[in-house]
Amino acid sequence: MLLEITDLAVEVDEKEILSDIDLYIDEGETHVLLGPNGSGKSTLFMSILGFPKYNITRGEIIFKGEDITHLGTTERVKMGIGVSFQNPPAIRGVKLMDLLKIEHHEDVKEELSPEMTEQASKLKFDERFLERDVNLGFSGGEVKRSEILQLLAQKPDFIMFDEPDSGVDIENVELLAEEINTLLDKDKKPGLRKNSGLLITHLGYILNFVTADTAHVLMDGRIACSGNPDEILEDVRKEGFKGCVECCKLIH
Ligand SMILES: Nc1ncnc2c1ncn2[C@@H]1O[C@H](COP(=O)(O)OP(=O)(O)OP(=O)(O)O)[C@@H](O)[C@H]1O
Ligand SMILES: [Mg+2]
Repeated sequence: MLLEITDLAVEVDEKEILSDIDLYIDEGETHVLLGPNGSGKSTLFMSILGFPKYNITRGEIIFKGEDITHLGTTERVKMGIGVSFQNPPAIRGVKLMDLLKIEHHEDVKEELSPEMTEQASKLKFDERFLERDVNLGFSGGEVKRSEILQLLAQKPDFIMFDEPDSGVDIENVELLAEEINTLLDKDKKPGLRKNSGLLITHLGYILNFVTADTAHVLMDGRIACSGNPDEILEDVRKEGFKGCVECCKLIH
């Protein structure tokens, strides 16, 4: 197993947001996390990333066989965890170009490598755009494309995407999906895939373009069900998350 989360409970400002979370993601797998607003999806994301505000009160997170439950975010990122945030902050005074060079282990004083320039251009960023401060005045779609570009620079092997498709128009969702597929090794046969992912989405729109192995529904801080993504999505699209409340009662 690449990621093993067992019996996890998480508090934010002394309020319990997540409990009884069990989640196991193997090498090469893509899991989807669905759930209504406020159910705790981003909290789980931030807890796996190790943000200090997210206080783990029970359970453990094992990544690549190592207990990372109380490890700092920097160390987790160095171990191969990459993220695309739902709402990343603007960083005044830091050019996107320079951040990309750091993430791609390039010299900040040198020109951006041809590899990264090409990746940027695939995601519709020209050199002038890359000179802008990170996320400052970026449109919603530009923020999401910039997050994916940074992941392409970092090349992590476990990637969490928090709502990569929200607020993005159809052409740009397809473009983002293409790069997400690259990041998750979807061009390889399932058995040969190395990279894994956790994809958080409300409506599952991105799943028209990115295949997933398993889906989980989070309800009120607990996993209500896990299973086949197509089946679960069909149910959620038909009935909303109402039906998941009953399953949650049965499981817990
Ligand atoms: N500092 C805090 N104090 C109290 N409650 C908090 C705090 N931070 C977050 N929460 C609550 O935790 C719950 C889960 O929030 P979270 O952002 O994880 O939800 P989400 O599933 O990602 O929602 P969305 O779909 O809207 O992005 C929410 O009810 C939120 O208000
Ligand atoms: Mg969220």
